[in-house]
Amino acid sequence: MSEVIQGVITYIAKRIPRSGKKVDLLIETPGIFPADINRELFEWVIENLMKNALDAMEGAAGKITFRISQVVGKTTIDVTDTGKGIDPKFHKEVFRPGYSTKKRGWGLGLSLSKRIIEDYHKGKLFVRQSAPGEGTTFRIRLG
Ligand SMILES: Nc1ncnc2c1ncn2[C@@H]1O[C@H](COP(=O)(O)OP(=O)(O)O)[C@@H](O)[C@H]1O
Ligand SMILES: [Mg+2]
Repeated sequence: MSEVIQGVITYIAKRIPRSGKKVDLLIETPGIFPADINRELFEWVIENLMKNALDAMEGAAGKITFRISQVVGKTTIDVTDTGKGIDPKFHKEVFRPGYSTKKRGWGLGLSLSKRIIEDYHKGKLFVRQSAPGEGTTFRIRLG
C-alpha cells in the first residue's frame, strides 16, 4: 500500500511547484499492509483526494498526510490535509454527483471515488473528521 501511494505522491508532487504552493507530503505507516486493489482505479482515487486537498489549501503552505494502518484487520488509509475544512452538515453531501463549491468544479471526483472504493473494492470512503478552519481527514477502509 505504501508503494502505491508513494507512486501517486511522486507523480503529483512534480506538478505542485507550478501551483506556487509549498505543500509537505508525508506518508506514515507502522508496517507493511496488503493492497488487494485494482491499482489503476485506486491510484485515481488517491490522486483525486490529493487534488481536492491541494484545492482546499488557501494559504501559501500546507501539509497532506497519508496514514496507512490496519483497523480491525482491514487496510485503512487516512488522508489528512490542513485545508479550509468542511462543515459537518456537508460531510455526506460532498459525495453527491454534481456537488461542487469550485468555480470550475464538476463535482464528480468524490462520487466516483466512493463508487470505486465501495462498489468495486467493497470498502468504505467517508469524511472521518472535518470542520471549517480545522482541515479534513478522509478515510478509506478496504473491504
Ligand atoms: N479536502 C477537502 N477539503 C475541503 N473541501 C473538500 C475537500 N474535498 C472535497 N471537498 C468539497 O467537496 C466538493 C466535491 O469534491 P469533488 O467531488 O472532488 O468535486 P470538485 O473537486 O470538482 O469540486 C468540493 O467542491 C469541495 O467543496
Ligand atoms: Mg475534486
